[in-house]
Amino acid sequence: MRKGIILAGGTGSRLFPITQVVSKQLLPVYDKPMIYYPLSTLMQAGITEILLICTPVDKPLFETLLKDGNQWGISLHYAEQAKPNGLAEALIIAEPFLNGEACALILGDNLFYGDALSTLLVDISSNSQGASVFGYHVANPTDYGVVSFDQFGKAVSIEEKPEQPESQYAMPGLYFFDSRAPHFARQVKPSARNELEIVDVINDYLIAGELSVKILGRGTAWLDTGTPDALSEATQFIAAIEKRQGLKVNCPEEVAYRLGLIDAVQLKTLAQPLLKSGYGEYLLRLLDDSNNRVGPASW
Ligand code: G1P
Repeated sequence: MRKGIILAGGTGSRLFPITQVVSKQLLPVYDKPMIYYPLSTLMQAGITEILLICTPVDKPLFETLLKDGNQWGISLHYAEQAKPNGLAEALIIAEPFLNGEACALILGDNLFYGDALSTLLVDISSNSQGASVFGYHVANPTDYGVVSFDQFGKAVSIEEKPEQPESQYAMPGLYFFDSRAPHFARQVKPSARNELEIVDVINDYLIAGELSVKILGRGTAWLDTGTPDALSEATQFIAAIEKRQGLKVNCPEEVAYRLGLIDAVQLKTLAQPLLKSGYGEYLLRLLDDSNNRVGPASW
């Protein structure tokens, strides 16, 4: 059974001063902590056993917020990344947790939203061989890992933050790997920015001919939250969708309820302490609104 890893480490230095005292991934994106979004994305992919990796200082805060996951019908575990040594290190830290299973690694500051996204993720999670990653057209590819394609649409190169990008396709921070990923991660040497880069692991799969790159189309939102502007834009985006639809985006309680991981009684219990903010009221409304249960493609 594929397991999940959320990497919520890093210093968040582009959001200083607030991230000098609070983890970036605990900051709010509109009405919920940032970490709820990637967590809900993994749940939507059908992944229920998840390791959260964060700094030793932030660990008690994440544990207080997310607990052991049982309240949402999932199983959450915690591990520390002492220093921001890079994304590939998450695979090494997670090796005992994975215990030979395949994984999905998601970054704690990456937000995904789109119609039919959960169907796509369930399909990849169940059927992916080797490694599966995504390409997403962005205005600023130099800020990301960049994937380029040949004339047949086959991925041919992957580079981390290239000065002269070969394409406009950035690689979002959601990666599906088979059981060999920790092994490949252990071979990675620190890069010029002194990190173990995830692109090096992905390149191992590319060279072996076992990499699949799926384009996330323009109907899907992949949002960044790394700078004050990006965070504020993500907040505005989520607020606009939620207010218009009267449905929340990436609400783990709702995802758990709709997937049948928790029942109505459990949802009611979760709502009680959250009534004052309106979040709890939303959860209670889900119990009444039976129309709401029909065909939600994007949570
Ligand atoms: C990391 C990865 C990069 C990826 C990005 C997605 O960048 O190294 O390949 O495109 O996440 O958010 P970083 O957050 O370290 O700048």
